[in-house]
Amino acid sequence: MNKLTILEFPDPRLRTRAKPIEEVDAGLRALIEAMFETMYEAPGIGLAATQVDVHKRLLVTDVSPGRDEPLCLINPEITERDGVIVTEEGCLSVPDIFAKVERSEHIRVRALGGDGQPLDMEANGLLAVCIQHEMDHLEGKLFVDYLSELKRQRIRKQLEKARRHQDDLTPVLKPGDRAPAI
Ligand code: NI
Repeated sequence: MNKLTILEFPDPRLRTRAKPIEEVDAGLRALIEAMFETMYEAPGIGLAATQVDVHKRLLVTDVSPGRDEPLCLINPEITERDGVIVTEEGCLSVPDIFAKVERSEHIRVRALGGDGQPLDMEANGLLAVCIQHEMDHLEGKLFVDYLSELKRQRIRKQLEKARRHQDDLTPVLKPGDRAPAI
């Protein structure tokens, strides 16, 4: 299993703007495979390279109910957009938080596929939302940025509390763990 660690809000690395990919080589293909594994395992319907601390313009998605329609986009660009859709979004980097976000309902995307071949595709509804959400990650942007500052603060506190609670539940120190602060 090639599971990658997903960065969580408010980690400043999530604010990095990703760089274009110049070559689709074996290293990149291995990264794509690991990103799909990480996304399916999470489970999530999309994952941007930014979220696994790789700052390259790459994202993976699968919005199909059967989890059998993987889509990889390299250097994606939206060339057309139309309509408005509001959906409740979540994010693997902002666990257990959901909020309504407005996006374009139809988009046209130009990119390279996972095989390095150019592709020009249309996406609607959930897939369009997912691609726009992941492309925001590549710009260092999170869906919580569309919410008010007050709401974002509340989410940050909620996540901090959840993480503290997780620490409280650690039953015993395993070898190599840090000793508790006193
Ligand atoms: Ni996300």
